[in-house]
Amino acid sequence: MATSRDEATVGVRTVVVPAAGMGTRFLPATKTVPKELLPVVDTPGIELIAQEAAAVGAQRLAVITAPSKQEVLRHFDTFPELVEMLRARGKDEQADKVERANQLIAPIAIEQAKPLGLGHAVSLAEPVLDADEDAFAVMLPDDIVLPATVLEDMARVRAAKGGSVLCAFEVSREETFNYGVFDVEDTEDELVKKVVGMVEKPEPDQAPSNLVATGRYLLDRKIFAALRQITPGKGGELQLTDAIDKLIAAGEPVHVVVHRGKRHDLGNPGGYIPACVDFGLHDPVYGPALYKSLKAIMTAFEAETR
Ligand code: G1P
Repeated sequence: MATSRDEATVGVRTVVVPAAGMGTRFLPATKTVPKELLPVVDTPGIELIAQEAAAVGAQRLAVITAPSKQEVLRHFDTFPELVEMLRARGKDEQADKVERANQLIAPIAIEQAKPLGLGHAVSLAEPVLDADEDAFAVMLPDDIVLPATVLEDMARVRAAKGGSVLCAFEVSREETFNYGVFDVEDTEDELVKKVVGMVEKPEPDQAPSNLVATGRYLLDRKIFAALRQITPGKGGELQLTDAIDKLIAAGEPVHVVVHRGKRHDLGNPGGYIPACVDFGLHDPVYGPALYKSLKAIMTAFEAETR
């Protein structure tokens, strides 16, 4: 598949970010701090998503929040007094960091009063889209997909084949029960599959493949009509997966780009800690010392547990 950035025609104006979850896997931290504000090195997950959205040219970040999670949007405020104080003290680098989120993209808060599911959350974004906006992206803030250019590949597939394009990751069969799982057919491109069905969190023996949805979706606007038709599915929630399956059943093209890069799951400590380590190791300030500390920690740990 062509992956030159110059050719990229993503053309996405709106990125929808469902961020209304309760963060139960991160308690007790999430009693008062929304999980989207937990830092990866020094930057909250929501700002990493905003960076990724801005990098593909999106203008709007439609953040679906719960009534108790207003702090997530506050992260995009201007903080003029803090910036002024930092600049007066010559701390320009820190001041730039404070201003960065606000300058990236225009955030729009959409309140989801009740946690009715990912499908319901996405449906709330419809009024934010322009009348002529045929497609939009969904980025789940729990999922960090690297390199962050995967949406460019997805946009190229949409330009060639129309419809909706999702990001797929290969996992072992035993892990499929955690994800939306694709039933696929091959295309002429090894890394692009046609989706002929999709099922949310099936039992491993019922999984149609080991290709699963990670948190990047390029959705045709027709998804909103499909979302109006779905009824509560897995876990009693309105599932985005079920609306995508309805699109397929109605003959709409749905494809996946099989992502061969890295993925981190910020939604639970078991995925968040490796993400911090990975980003930390690549950080020019903290990386070299972190590398040494990790080696020492590993050596001590192995000695302790031998
Ligand atoms: C959601 C989706 C699922 C997808 C997953 C990716 O599930 O419902 O289809 O595979 O995100 O992270 P969640 O992890 O929110 O339960």
